[in-house]
Amino acid sequence: MYKILTKEMLSPAICRMKVLAPRVASAARPGQFLIVRVNEHGERIPLTISDYDAEEGSVTIVTQKIGASTKEICALEAGDCFEDVVGPLGLASDFVGMTDEQLKSARYIFVAGGVGTAPVYPQVKYLKAHGAYVDVIIGAKTADLLIYRDEMAAVCDHLYICTDDGSEGFKGMVTALLEKIVVEDGNRYTQAVAIGPMIMMKFTTLTAKKLGLPIVVSLNTLMVDGTGMCGACRVTVAGKTRFACVEGPEFDGYEVDFDEAMRRQGMYRAEELAEDHKCKIR
Ligand SMILES: Cc1cc2nc3c(=O)[nH]c(=O)nc-3n(C[C@H](O)[C@H](O)[C@H](O)COP(=O)(O)OP(=O)(O)OC[C@H]3O[C@@H](n4cnc5c(N)ncnc54)[C@H](O)[C@@H]3O)c2cc1C
Ligand code: FES
Repeated sequence: MYKILTKEMLSPAICRMKVLAPRVASAARPGQFLIVRVNEHGERIPLTISDYDAEEGSVTIVTQKIGASTKEICALEAGDCFEDVVGPLGLASDFVGMTDEQLKSARYIFVAGGVGTAPVYPQVKYLKAHGAYVDVIIGAKTADLLIYRDEMAAVCDHLYICTDDGSEGFKGMVTALLEKIVVEDGNRYTQAVAIGPMIMMKFTTLTAKKLGLPIVVSLNTLMVDGTGMCGACRVTVAGKTRFACVEGPEFDGYEVDFDEAMRRQGMYRAEELAEDHKCKIR
């Protein structure tokens, strides 16, 4: 059992929890994720590690309520326990293998959409601690859906905010703001990273390509076992089948077949929306 140490709501549909999981916390690296189960009958839910503290033995997860299981997670309170917390899973971000010397000459621009902002945080924190220059764009539909503003501002060089309706920051999509920052304002970057909804990562990749900017994306595919056995998370990258759980979740954006990935993500939508969705794989 894994005890929830703290819980807070970041917005009406997004909660942040610190969970006691010392072995996971001591091995976690930016870019990796967990699979959690609320109880012994619970569905296995992948969630990115949004922070980790090896000394305290805790990992932080941020969950958006979008279906039955994520609602169950957000209904838990401090003092409650998860039945299972498995991780860290997946590969760490590529930059974890770079030297501080290499990182000192790197200039990153992160593009974070919605709840994807939380997984960006440990990456920015790590890069800044190792000497890289890091700017961040956080985008959301409306100002009340923006999360991690203060946390991100504290660890990055420059934070840009945008909302679809202009209720805070730049009015428009993250892609338009990225183009403005690079083309109009003349900022120069060596690497972009996009984390958020699949559609946002697809269009951010197209914009990055137009700007001649390499881009890494983090794929939130459907997953079941998280160990490379079931094939639920398969994606086509550079024309080859890859398993996001063990070979990702991060891939070169230029090489990802986003249209196929989006089709596969919606594969069980009808069943998920059905009133009795207990037929789902557990
Ligand atoms: C590596 C990885 C890391 C992730 N990190 C986070 C995170 O840090 N925070 C977070 O809130 N979510 C994260 N997700 C997504 C999260 O796992 C799903 O939202 C969750 O599994 C949905 O379960 P549910 O039963 O609540 O909803 P369901 O009833 O299963 O689905 C509800 C709706 O969401 C869609 N959906 C289902 N699974 C996904 C998915 N993987 N991505 C996008 N849409 C989906 C369905 O098609 C359906 O329309 C991550 C996914 C992966 C693979
Ligand atoms: S989730 Fe089963 S192979 Fe990746």
